[in-house]
Amino acid sequence: MTEKAYQAVYQSWVEAPEAFWREQAQLIDWSRPPEKIFETNDTGDRWYVDGEMNTCHNCVDRHVEAGHGDRTALIYDSPMTDSKQTISYADLLERVECVAGMMQAHGVEKGDRVIIYMPMIAETAIAALACARLGAVHSIVFGGFAAAELATRIDDARPKMILAASCGLEPGRVVAYKPLIDGAIALASHKPEHVIMLQRPQETAPLDQPYDADWQTSEDKARADNLRPACVPVKATDPLYILYTSGTTGIPKGVVRDNGGHLVALSWAMHNVYNIAAGEVFWSASDFGWVVGHSFILYGPLAIGATSVIYEGKPVGTPDAGAFWRVISEHGVKALFTAPTAFRAIKKQDPDAKLVADYDLSCLKTLYLAGERVDPDTINWAEGHLNIPVIDNWWQTETGWPICGNPVGIETLPIKKGSPALPMPGYHVDIVDDENQPVAAGETGAIVIKLPLPPGCLPSLWENEDGFKQAYLTDYPGYYKTGDAGFLDEDGYLYVMSRTDDIINVAGHRLSTGGMEEVLAAHKDIAECAVLGVKDALKGEIPIGLLVLNDGVNRDQQEIIGEAVQLVRDQIGPVAAFKIAIRVARLPKTRSGKILRGTIRKIANGEAWSVPATIDDPAILDEIRAELVTIGYPKGDV
Ligand code: COA
Ligand code: AMP
Repeated sequence: MTEKAYQAVYQSWVEAPEAFWREQAQLIDWSRPPEKIFETNDTGDRWYVDGEMNTCHNCVDRHVEAGHGDRTALIYDSPMTDSKQTISYADLLERVECVAGMMQAHGVEKGDRVIIYMPMIAETAIAALACARLGAVHSIVFGGFAAAELATRIDDARPKMILAASCGLEPGRVVAYKPLIDGAIALASHKPEHVIMLQRPQETAPLDQPYDADWQTSEDKARADNLRPACVPVKATDPLYILYTSGTTGIPKGVVRDNGGHLVALSWAMHNVYNIAAGEVFWSASDFGWVVGHSFILYGPLAIGATSVIYEGKPVGTPDAGAFWRVISEHGVKALFTAPTAFRAIKKQDPDAKLVADYDLSCLKTLYLAGERVDPDTINWAEGHLNIPVIDNWWQTETGWPICGNPVGIETLPIKKGSPALPMPGYHVDIVDDENQPVAAGETGAIVIKLPLPPGCLPSLWENEDGFKQAYLTDYPGYYKTGDAGFLDEDGYLYVMSRTDDIINVAGHRLSTGGMEEVLAAHKDIAECAVLGVKDALKGEIPIGLLVLNDGVNRDQQEIIGEAVQLVRDQIGPVAAFKIAIRVARLPKTRSGKILRGTIRKIANGEAWSVPATIDDPAILDEIRAELVTIGYPKGDV
């Protein structure tokens, strides 16, 4: 084993965790270097408690100050608008300064929250960095969510300002953001003072509300007034952003990310997991609205002075299944990070990968997949056609960076398909049973992480300490509950098999079936319902709804189903991909009244199932099976 090998690095963390993270702290610049590396205080576990720094300084200013202003920071590539733009670190600094000036002129100060509701354009990165510059706390909301979801986030984060673009672009559809924003503000109890709107030519927004301001005019004014605020030093433990993610109910959880530990962890991961150095091109084909976008389109690559690609397009249809290969070859991408579903989409359209031959992909050294379970089929296809290692990595919004992975920057460990390999330093992963006892290798149980969590992981939920403890720390004392289930093999490789809660993963997007049920239950004709995730060949999982109608309802049931589908689209958003629902006479329950979602899911997936001992009336399962058959479940091809 070489000195640099994974085991040696992991062991150095095990033996002296604080010394390990003290050393990694040198990856970033501090205005006040931390003396206290770790502390458990009455608010929980905190990293670099007395350190001060600024995330924007680290991601932008310091690279320019070091003489790398000419280096490319961002490449915007948009088949949706047929345009491309290259932004150097010097250009980025200029834009970020003026946008921070624009925000300051509208009253944004350190600690204020700012919601960013913007698509995959460079200004979204600029907006987030400008917030970081001022010490303001951003919360990026994914464009595929509906007004009601945005309203929930407005009420929870209570932003002073919303930074928005006039529209997002989906194939064949312009998504106007202004009606969604106005609708959300009307629904929310909290009213932001300003909405600053970046007008896109594809659809401009009427600026007709008292809170509306035009982005370009405001940014130009800040430029003309030379309003270019310097980076505001913040405590390492101050919040950088809030990212809402699905929990088991309709109320999303506001995952808080701090400044110092976050940037240290991301810098470590960029070098050691993703094997990227300053000046190299990294492409994370995700969206700013997800954690992958936060960590590996925005902060990670910029923290280390690399080049990050912002792609406004899809893996297929913009214009074809060769889109990814074009971007890689055109921009010299060294590593691509995306969700397996993107590759399944490409494989479906171009099964023999004929389009690969049209491009020179010699620059591409590694493919990283995450966001959902990486199926061996997808790995085989990608490996076979790209001829590079395909690396699974497992993590979640809460952790912000890989829990388990294959640290190519240290050494490429043997790849076992279906496993994201081994824990990264900072993470001690165990599999436990319901009594919180570790289980033997090969046995499935809850995947938990020994406390404390490493730098970068959530210190809490936004203004909801009790909710944080309840959701993550209570069920398995001494551990953080990931909500995933799986097993470790004899070599310590992790296999993540499923969730232990009602969260489903649709095309790499994390969604709450409980949230969908809450929306459906509000329909006047629906007495009760169950939503569960079933296997899907493209998206991994998709939700289906089982609806029990009120007695006496004799309207056309297809009409009611259509309304139910529309309700979820309107209340949660198109991203929920809720398109299938059936009427059932009754739902199978335990004698204590709990709906047997797990059993229904197994029936729908065509998996082996047995009648649970606690079931109230076993005949209902046969009724459900018969109803599922009418809509083609179980499917044979997944
Ligand atoms: N704004 C508005 N609507 C959006 C949106 C956005 N930012 N992103 C997606 N939507 C809409 C889509 O238009 C679609 O609407 P429709 O029901 O009218 O067709 C719906 O939400 C579902 O979108 P999506 O999950 O993207 O499915 P799709 O069928 O359009 O495309 C894939 C399928 C596989 C091509 C697509 O999911 C994909 O590119 N996945 C990559 C994975 C990824 O980026 N994961 C992020 C985590 S790493
Ligand atoms: P999110 O917080 O949206 O990133 O979703 C995180 C969840 O996605 C995890 O808890 C897992 O359930 C799932 N997930 C992410 N990456 C992987 C992976 N590599 N393998 C299996 N599941 C994954």
